[in-house]
Amino acid sequence: MPTGDPTRRNALAVVLAAGEGTRMKSVRPKVLHEIAGRSMLAHMLASVAAAGIDAFAVVVGPEADEVRQEVQRLRPDARVFVQQRRLGTAHAVLAARAAIAAGFDQLLVLFADTPLVRPATIAALCDGLAGGTGVVALGFTARDPHGYGRLIVDGRGRLVAIREEKDASDEERRLRLCNAGLMAIDGRRALELLDAVGASNAKGEYYLTDIVGLAAERGLATRVVLADEDEALGVNDRVQLAQAEALAQQRLRRAAMLAGATLVAPDTIFLSADTKIGRDVVIEPHVVIGPGVEIANGALIRSFSHLEGATIGFNAKVGPFARLRPGANLAATARVGNFVEIKAADVGEGAKVNHLTYIGDATIGAGANIGAGTITCNYDGFFKYRTVIGEGAFIGSNSALVAPVKIGDRAYVGSGSVITRDVGPDALALGRGRQVERSGWAARFRESQKAKKDGAI
Ligand code: UD1
Ligand code: MG
Repeated sequence: MPTGDPTRRNALAVVLAAGEGTRMKSVRPKVLHEIAGRSMLAHMLASVAAAGIDAFAVVVGPEADEVRQEVQRLRPDARVFVQQRRLGTAHAVLAARAAIAAGFDQLLVLFADTPLVRPATIAALCDGLAGGTGVVALGFTARDPHGYGRLIVDGRGRLVAIREEKDASDEERRLRLCNAGLMAIDGRRALELLDAVGASNAKGEYYLTDIVGLAAERGLATRVVLADEDEALGVNDRVQLAQAEALAQQRLRRAAMLAGATLVAPDTIFLSADTKIGRDVVIEPHVVIGPGVEIANGALIRSFSHLEGATIGFNAKVGPFARLRPGANLAATARVGNFVEIKAADVGEGAKVNHLTYIGDATIGAGANIGAGTITCNYDGFFKYRTVIGEGAFIGSNSALVAPVKIGDRAYVGSGSVITRDVGPDALALGRGRQVERSGWAARFRESQKAKKDGAI
């Protein structure tokens, strides 16, 4: 990814996110739907920032508090503008007039529902303005151009106009070179061009795309920069959302593999945009990795594990069938086995939690061994309490550790114990009924029962 390029400092990105998103059929605003664990809007803002642009304006609809909050969370420095009435893409850009009027060399317009555009493509779009070009549009060759605006290019390769499908002639509709929607505009001419846009078209909207023709009329050069169709995918419904997810997953898997991780069956492994995977990590088939996961070098994640908000240390082993929830931190060489759930807990170096266990709100010391079926009872219905297990401690199988409670270093807890009080270091704690044995009892019992039954017949 390109890093911040100081030459683009004087660029303003206007991200349009005021669309209604009706085709999503959702109570959630379209641009907050997620791909690879983060919102489409977050993808776009991250890509724009990675392209070296650091001035942001986001245009939202009138009832878009959630979108505004997401912008504020991601980029508190961004200015948010409200487009009161949805009168078209040029009208939406002009909602950010106050930001544009501050004066930038380059104005970049992006759609928040085009989440897969790469930072390098955004940078190329801006670079297209070099040498006095007035408008640069991002184009792509569509397998099926239906619904997109068509790029009309003259014999010398100049972009003459963009024609929306509803306004296009039959001949123009046959063109497959389409408008991805992203545009870079000479910042000094942007307001003049945007203000000249009218609404005399099939939809009666102020089309951003009209600035191409308006620039050409003014003798300004206009150009097309090409992108892959995959990058240009616009998400309008849940089918396209799933397509975008699939493409994002392919990219993430590929990047992880090229960075030195083995994904045994990549198509069955789901990653998040922020997943960090070290070298020589092996991920077996059917693993889901949600947001906030970091996996250090050499770790093994076995099949059917589900991880989110967790860190996995060097050479640690997880799964199969493990669930790591937010705040699960495994130190180097720790092992978490099948049917184990871990939440908000530090598992020390080399510690083992191998079978059928719940560890929540806990600290487990290095080298401790947590037996099968151990439960940290961390919640009383109102508050959460911590369990602290010392280094080298041994918790016998099927124990309940009722928090708050501390088990000292190297202490033993007998199997089947319910531990409600702290245990000192090197001690043995037993919290279970004492075993009683009555010799011969079973034989006597069988005989008496059998006699009763025979008598009844
Ligand atoms: C737009 C382009 C079309 C291009 C296509 C690519 C125009 C006129 N057309 O068409 O050439 O091929 O995208 O996907 O630009 N928005 C607002 N306020 C408005 C209208 C739109 O904020 O009043 C936002 C939407 O939230 C969306 C973006 O602008 O993020 C594009 O709007 P949309 O209605 O999806 O345009 P398309 O018809 O897809
Ligand atoms: Mg669209």
